[in-house]
Amino acid sequence: MKEFIQNLPKAELHLHIEGTLEPEMMFELAQRNKIDLPYKSVSEVREAYNFADLQSFLDLYYQGSQVLQKEQDFYDLTWAYLQKAVSQNVRHTEIFFDPQSHTSRGIAFETAYQGIYQALEDGKAKLGISSQLILSFLRDRSAEEAFATLEQALPYKDTIPAVGLDSAEQGNPPSKFKEVFARAQAEGFLTVAHAGEEGPPEYIWEAIKLLNVSRIDHGVRSTENPELLNYLADKQIPLTVCPLSNVELKVFDSMDKHNLKKLLNLGICATVNSDDPSYFGGYVSENYQAAQEALDLTKQELYQLAKNSFQASFLSPESKHKLIAELDDYCHVLDRVS
Ligand code: ADE
Ligand code: ZN
Repeated sequence: MKEFIQNLPKAELHLHIEGTLEPEMMFELAQRNKIDLPYKSVSEVREAYNFADLQSFLDLYYQGSQVLQKEQDFYDLTWAYLQKAVSQNVRHTEIFFDPQSHTSRGIAFETAYQGIYQALEDGKAKLGISSQLILSFLRDRSAEEAFATLEQALPYKDTIPAVGLDSAEQGNPPSKFKEVFARAQAEGFLTVAHAGEEGPPEYIWEAIKLLNVSRIDHGVRSTENPELLNYLADKQIPLTVCPLSNVELKVFDSMDKHNLKKLLNLGICATVNSDDPSYFGGYVSENYQAAQEALDLTKQELYQLAKNSFQASFLSPESKHKLIAELDDYCHVLDRVS
């Protein structure tokens, strides 16, 4: 099963590039940029990763991001993630970046953008992995700041297909960003939003009705509202589920309590993703693996999750078709030999 998962052709649709900062790279970049870290060793960093909830994670995540200073740092971070993703047969990835967590500490939008973008371009050419970039607004900051961030992104809008919404969810409903998202859509951006991770099902409704999202990031609290579940299944609005993240941030007490299998079996377009792999103990394959073991997912269900990942992506219909054919081929070959 482990090998089946590792080699399964898949897309990753919910990945914060700042959340791929491994402690080893954190130390390397801190040294390169002459930044003092509040940790003495890599193992001390890992020991600090013991989260009570989303906010306790975000505190460390934003602190860690401070070692990212130069374009090369953003390039190296992104390149390391792409190499890892390719090793897990991720064929396509859609990556969030949080410009405000950099611009708010004096790093130019362009510095972050150029480093990430150049690595994504090199990933296409040298590693054969396709990718797209999603600019995510920080919802615990003002709508005005989000507007200013959108303005900074406009010169690069041809290379940033979508905008998203992340950071502390409770008390920061999607409605707060209705106007910013309307403006982003008028500029041609697709939209996604984190909703129903810690926040209530009403936030998922708001993301759909007010922000016009193409997908919901997380969305696991949808199971509290049967009408919403029907709607998600009916309209095939995808959920980018992040199993290890949900357990690490105490959204579920343990993996065997996770509702991924339930969502999938309701016909919802659920996908598996890693969110912030360096902080939550695994990249996308480890997420499939942990969910498979705890929920006893069958190969058929793993196939469906991978197929959903391509269906839910922002790829063209032709590219989706090609990748799903590759997936079908992989699964058929396995059927014949097993
Ligand atoms: N930023 C990075 N990871 C996040 C998550 N899981 N939820 C909200 N904001 C985030
Ligand atoms: Zn996330």
